[in-house]
Amino acid sequence: MKKFTSIKDCPQPQKLIEKALHYKQNPYSNLGEKKTLGLVFFNPSLRTRLSTQKAAYNLGMNVLVINVSTDGWQIEMEDGAIMNQGTQEHIKEAIKVVSAYCDIIGVRTFAKLQNLAEDGEEKVLQQFLKYADVPVISLESTSLHPLQSLADLVSIAETKISKPKVVLSWAPHPKALPHAVANSFLEWIKSTDAEVTVCHPEGYELNPMYTAGLTISHSQESAFKNADFIYCKSWSSSKEYGSHIPVKGNWMIDQQKMALGNNTKFMHCLPIRRNVVASDEVIDHSMVYQQAANRLWAAQAVLSEILES
Ligand code: CP
Repeated sequence: MKKFTSIKDCPQPQKLIEKALHYKQNPYSNLGEKKTLGLVFFNPSLRTRLSTQKAAYNLGMNVLVINVSTDGWQIEMEDGAIMNQGTQEHIKEAIKVVSAYCDIIGVRTFAKLQNLAEDGEEKVLQQFLKYADVPVISLESTSLHPLQSLADLVSIAETKISKPKVVLSWAPHPKALPHAVANSFLEWIKSTDAEVTVCHPEGYELNPMYTAGLTISHSQESAFKNADFIYCKSWSSSKEYGSHIPVKGNWMIDQQKMALGNNTKFMHCLPIRRNVVASDEVIDHSMVYQQAANRLWAAQAVLSEILES
């Protein structure tokens, strides 16, 4: 594997899941000895930062981390820009310099939530792919979060439920959030034998590129019937991108809704707003800690695939 930005970079996703499960049983290797991982964060993180760092250490790698918004220069993203305003360093130099110090670079950059098509262009990630002299992994981009999705599939695989019924459900949130986790989960779950329903209020449609071929529902009560897994996530309206348009009814997930399913397991990528997205009881009896723990093994599987190639 030469890069990791989407499931499209993984010729055999199932093998990557097996590799993550292997590392969960056998964490340590010297595959990355004398190699350095650079982690560049344009946005905050708890899980991605710590799990990817720990994964690299388990492989014997060194790790350099920079939080650009607090530690670095103001970065200019536009090629051809006349840099006589606020930005001090061009992304081209920044990436070339990080490439000189590192053998693999990870980058996190969130959607701006101003223009859906623009966020779909993955401008910052594309600049990394263009200018980096070493392999690039996405630590979440404007439209996808593949390390999260790989960990989610590892967590589902651990339950050993065959042909599961999986519902991706929208949930309320005080802020409009990116589509990345939802898009990415759909990309990855479609590679399995799961039966998938996407459930959201009208006006919150995801890009058909990700939902094509899936069942769409506008009712949690009907979608949750017999579900094995409910993957919950809030995302911005697509009708008024970057906003939350009013929705009918209460979309928070509580125990009553969970009871509609079949010993249903609740999933969420974290962080989660308790008693807004889902109730305390739902979160406390969920898979969220398992998913977060599996972020480590997912990252280790990805780093090792890249180191091996
Ligand atoms: N789920 C996830 O990516 O968490 P962080 O934003 O804390 O990395």
